[in-house]
Amino acid sequence: MTPSKLPSIIAIDGPAASGKSTLGLSIANALGYLFFDTGVMYRAITWLALNRDIDIHDESAVTLLAENVQIDVAPASKSDGRACDVLIEGRDITWETRLPEVDANVSVISAYAGVRAALTRQQRRIGQRGRVVMVGRDIGTVVLPEADLKIYLDATAEERARRRYNEIVTRGGTAEYKDILAKVIERDRIDSTRDVAPLKAAKDAVVLDSNNINAEEVFRRVMALFA
Ligand code: CDP
Repeated sequence: MTPSKLPSIIAIDGPAASGKSTLGLSIANALGYLFFDTGVMYRAITWLALNRDIDIHDESAVTLLAENVQIDVAPASKSDGRACDVLIEGRDITWETRLPEVDANVSVISAYAGVRAALTRQQRRIGQRGRVVMVGRDIGTVVLPEADLKIYLDATAEERARRRYNEIVTRGGTAEYKDILAKVIERDRIDSTRDVAPLKAAKDAVVLDSNNINAEEVFRRVMALFA
């Protein structure tokens, strides 16, 4: 493998809990690239809106927030299971972005055109520098359609809900599998039916079904695409 054959911009899209972040982080580490999970930006705006008592259904108010707030996504500064640090106005909100109320509301705000425009602009600026693995819903289709390699990672809602359930339990939390499944299905519905940048595979994406393969095998198959 010659360095020039390596894809410089790698886009990974797919539905909730399909394993995009695990895969993206492993590839970024293997290649020495920046790992950028764009979902954290939508989560950060959602958390901030909730924290400031802004009505999540007030599109103009949430858009104004997205246009004016500085979100920083930086390499992980602690080994507490985080993939990266998420800072808003200097405050570390990495774990706040994973709260159940953020999960429940993030798809609502990420359907707003103005919110997407503001965040997409920031994501493109970072992605176009290259040597990056960017993860989300619309990276291969909208944010970086020029990406050298596009992966669309999929799995059934049941399998994805199982993974999310295990994640929560491993972190010491409690959860009901059937509630998680219902939420995953609802988030998929909103993400794939919205007007702006809906979740879908780019025409030139490599589609990987991860139902019966574990994270290591998914990683191996993706690396084999350019090895
Ligand atoms: O980790 P998980 O798959 O649960 O979600 P995430 O990647 O953190 O993204 C949270 C939400 O942000 C998604 O359900 C989408 O509504 C939204 N999102 C988006 O619209 N576009 C992106 N590029 C990334 C996330």
